[in-house]
Amino acid sequence: MSLLLDPAAQDLLFREARTANTFTDEPVTEEQIRDVYDLVKYAPTSMNMQPLRVVLVRSAEARERLVQHMSPGNQKKTSTAPLTAVLAADLEFHEELPTQFPHFPGAKDAYADPTYRENSALLNAAIQVGYVILGIRAAGLAAGPMTGFDAAAVTKEFFDEAHKVLVVVNIGKPGPDAWMARNPRLGYDEVITTV
Ligand SMILES: Cc1cc2nc3c(=O)[nH]c(=O)nc-3n(C[C@H](O)[C@H](O)[C@H](O)COP(=O)(O)O)c2cc1C
Repeated sequence: MSLLLDPAAQDLLFREARTANTFTDEPVTEEQIRDVYDLVKYAPTSMNMQPLRVVLVRSAEARERLVQHMSPGNQKKTSTAPLTAVLAADLEFHEELPTQFPHFPGAKDAYADPTYRENSALLNAAIQVGYVILGIRAAGLAAGPMTGFDAAAVTKEFFDEAHKVLVVVNIGKPGPDAWMARNPRLGYDEVITTV
């Protein structure tokens, strides 16, 4: 095997990691989420734009506001997860770019076109969603990402119109019967061609 990452870490992040659908009551602390963020923030985005914004849903009141917009199959797990994160793209991320990309003074102007800016924000925030899922696994926690919800309604509930919610992620230690059946992954030859 040519991978440098040790096999236990490979299992933790990929082979043994599963998408959790139930959770124990064990709390997920602010410190754990800080550690996750302080790790995954180093993963790359285009022009270092970092468009991901996250709202952590902890209170019963906020959870109720979220759950009402989840599709029926996602409601119970979102009600019972110890922590749920709402992950959104900031469509006005370019306002911050001069500080994030100080070596390129024109960075902000590069995103003056709103369509280009929105497409860039959505792509890069989605990449960051993947980093966050792996970060959650690196913390020894399980993630339950979901796109089955009314995105416009969740955006309105937790952000303003300069944002778009992409994914809601339940976070915690897996509970009883946490996994669905493991489905097959495409093999190398089905995905990768060399030209
Ligand atoms: C972006 C994204 C959206 C998903 N949306 C839902 C969802 O709305 N409801 C759900 O039950 N599972 C959802 N899933 C879970 C996937 O079905 C699951 O991660 C995939 O089948 C792999 O499962 P495994 O990790 O147990 O192998 C979503 C996963 C991702 C990454």
